[in-house]
Amino acid sequence: MHLELPVHASAPAQARREVASWLQQLCGLLPLCEVAEGLIFAMSEAVTNSIDHAFVEADTIRPDVQPPGPSATTGQACGQERLGLVILDGWVAKASASAKRHVVLTVVDDGRWRPPPTDPGNRGRGLAMMKGFVDQVDIDPKPEGTVVRLQQALEC
Ligand SMILES: Nc1ncnc2c1ncn2[C@@H]1O[C@H](COP(=O)(O)OP(=O)(O)O)[C@@H](O)[C@H]1O
Ligand SMILES: [Mg+2]
Repeated sequence: MHLELPVHASAPAQARREVASWLQQLCGLLPLCEVAEGLIFAMSEAVTNSIDHAFVEADTIRPDVQPPGPSATTGQACGQERLGLVILDGWVAKASASAKRHVVLTVVDDGRWRPPPTDPGNRGRGLAMMKGFVDQVDIDPKPEGTVVRLQQALEC
C-alpha cells in the first residue's frame, strides 16, 4: 500500500480509510479486530503529528492554497495548506515460514522534527499512545524529515 497525503487536516481521516480497507482485504475480517484497530489508531496519530508539527516553519505556510476539495474536513488542526508531503507505506512481512505475519506501516514526512516541549500541558500523549497500541514503534528524526515505523504482528 502506498499513499501520498496532503499536508492538511483531512489527511489522518483519509489515511484511516485507506489502511482500514487495506487491512480488511488482508485479513478478510469485517469488522476489523482490535489489533488492526489499534494499528489504525497509531498510524493516525503519526500522520496527525506530521500535519501538526513537521511543517510549522513560517516559510512553509501557504495561506493562498485552499483545502483539497469539498470533502475536506472542517475544524482543521492547521487551517492552511502547507508545502510538504506525508507518505504512508504498508506491507506485510514474515520472519520465517512458521512465524506470524506482521504488518509494517511507515509514515514519512519531509518536514522538520521538533523536540517535544518540556511542559506539554494537556498535550504530549500521542507518542505514548502509539507505543501502547502496536508491538513496535521506531521514530527516526532525520534532517530531511521524520520516519515513523509501526510494526504489528497479526493474529489471523
Ligand atoms: N512528525 C513530526 N515532526 C516534528 N515533530 C514531531 C513529529 N512527531 C512528533 N513530534 C514532536 O514530538 C512531540 C510529541 O508528540 P505527541 O506525543 O504526539 O504529542 P502532541 O502531538 O500532543 O504534541 C510533538 O509535540 C513534537 O514536538
Ligand atoms: Mg500528537
